[in-house]
Amino acid sequence: MTNKLIAPSVLAADFGNLQRDIEMINNSDADWFHIDIMDGVFVPNISYGMPVLQAIAKHANKTLDVHLMIVDPDRYIKTFADLGSNILTVHYEACTHLHRTLQAIKAEGMKAGVAINPHTSVELLTDVIKDIDLVLVMSVNPGFGGQSFIENTYKKVKRLKEIIKENGASTMIEVDGGVTNKNAAALVEAGADALVAGSFVFKSEDPKRTIKELKSLANQ
Ligand code: DX5
Ligand code: ZN
Repeated sequence: MTNKLIAPSVLAADFGNLQRDIEMINNSDADWFHIDIMDGVFVPNISYGMPVLQAIAKHANKTLDVHLMIVDPDRYIKTFADLGSNILTVHYEACTHLHRTLQAIKAEGMKAGVAINPHTSVELLTDVIKDIDLVLVMSVNPGFGGQSFIENTYKKVKRLKEIIKENGASTMIEVDGGVTNKNAAALVEAGADALVAGSFVFKSEDPKRTIKELKSLANQ
């Protein structure tokens, strides 16, 4: 069995103690830093932008998994590459020429991800699946942390796994939103390779221990 990954979402960190929280992730069993960029247009919220990502990148010693919840993401591909992003994920719903966007991300030396909203069918990715390094399946409506998990996600992850196999692709599946110790193992069972967790980690008494718990639930 391959190593299943945990990606704590920095959105839920304490921004007054950002360096402390980054060091906590550095010293934990986490695999990636999940970075949520929201523009107030694609989603009804604004998170943080380039200066904060720059500060995170300066201290983080793990893969930067950047989730762009912005319209017309092509405008910022180079900027996010220059800031040190390792994986750049754009929303299917925000890209008119998705194939072109994926090539542009790879041309900047990053892994290319595609996120899909809860209403977006995984079937829509079939024709580009071999071009996608990572599919980010949203298990809440993007825009906010702390929402509850949408149960239909299991079905989507299972079908997506089949599509990946049918096409001989090596695409990873990441699930984002409402991930806890109640659904982590079942999500991996359904086919997830990486799990994002924001509030479940940062609102817990001991975030480092919570990351360890998620990591072991994902790798049973
Ligand atoms: C939501 C973001 C998520 C969010 C997850 O739009 O994409 O990454 O931070 O937070 P939790 O784990 O609290 O649902
Ligand atoms: Zn996210």
